Amino acid sequence: MQQYPLYRPRRSRRWKWSRDLFSESKLCTSDLIQPFFLVDGTNKETSIGKMPGIQRYSVDRLFYKLEEVEKLNIPLVAIFPCLEDNLKTVDGKEGVNEKGLICSAIREIKKRFPGVGVMADVALDPYTSHGQDGLVNRDGNVINDETVRILCKQAAIQAEAGADVIAPSDMMDGRIIAIRETLEGLKKTDTLIMSYAAKYASAFYGPFREAVSSKLGNKSSKNTYQMDPRNSDEALREATLDTYEGADMLLVKPGLPYLDVVYRLKTSLNMPIFSYQVSGEYAMIKAAINQSMLDEKNTVMESLACFKRAGSTGIISYFSTQVARWILDKEI
Ligand code: PBG
Repeated sequence: MQQYPLYRPRRSRRWKWSRDLFSESKLCTSDLIQPFFLVDGTNKETSIGKMPGIQRYSVDRLFYKLEEVEKLNIPLVAIFPCLEDNLKTVDGKEGVNEKGLICSAIREIKKRFPGVGVMADVALDPYTSHGQDGLVNRDGNVINDETVRILCKQAAIQAEAGADVIAPSDMMDGRIIAIRETLEGLKKTDTLIMSYAAKYASAFYGPFREAVSSKLGNKSSKNTYQMDPRNSDEALREATLDTYEGADMLLVKPGLPYLDVVYRLKTSLNMPIFSYQVSGEYAMIKAAINQSMLDEKNTVMESLACFKRAGSTGIISYFSTQVARWILDKEI
């Protein structure tokens, strides 16, 4: 390595043009995925206490948001349902209702916005009265294989409704191959699978559980199926399995605290790795901004740039639409 003063690292940082020229990664609007929370009915927009600035929308109201998404060239949106309590059951059967909120929304969105990708979540937690992602036995543990059978049904109805990306977020063993075989059986050979391959049992999902009105109590956890935050060899094993089971994209979740996992998967597997900047990360940043502790634009842009540096192909973020506006403003 050349020594100072032959190599002055500050030279390349002197001007904006030179910083841009030397930049090793670039955040584009096509890197962004915007999640939306949906409610039944029309003309509805409800706020979420722990996620200031984020709304739940009825599908007709969502259309206004999707017009913006389309204009900003955001390629993909992820949709999550928030159901009334009376639709939640022990077996989460509303999750396999092809006339339910999510499947109806997919059909309507794809009719109006055929060019916008739609990703649907596969897991039962918004539909169960206990808030777990699958069926539970008497001990309260989630039973794997019976759950996988239901998840296949859920994936099938979502794909038939027109979902472009099926995103199993449940962390059951063997669900990727089971869902891939189900899709093949339906001749849904173009449906992508975004596997939540390394999904950790994280406290950062708290605000999301309010957003979908999940019934998971404070004493319950998802520790028997979501990953232990202390591990990353295990993430590599999970990601390798899902790759061979037929996933097209692998997701690491949460986001910023887990960038080492993104980097590790990116350098070990030649697969597209995605990140989810989850609800708790959004809430933390937003709370600090709202108390004037952090500058909004600089903080949010930096947080997303870090995902790209670590190796993420794309990022699911509640800030996506706002970030896309900032990116395009700058470029005009
Ligand atoms: C459901 C699901 C969760 C999230 C995405 N899909 C919550 C959970 O596993 O408890 C979290 C997303 C976020 O926090 O933004 N399986």
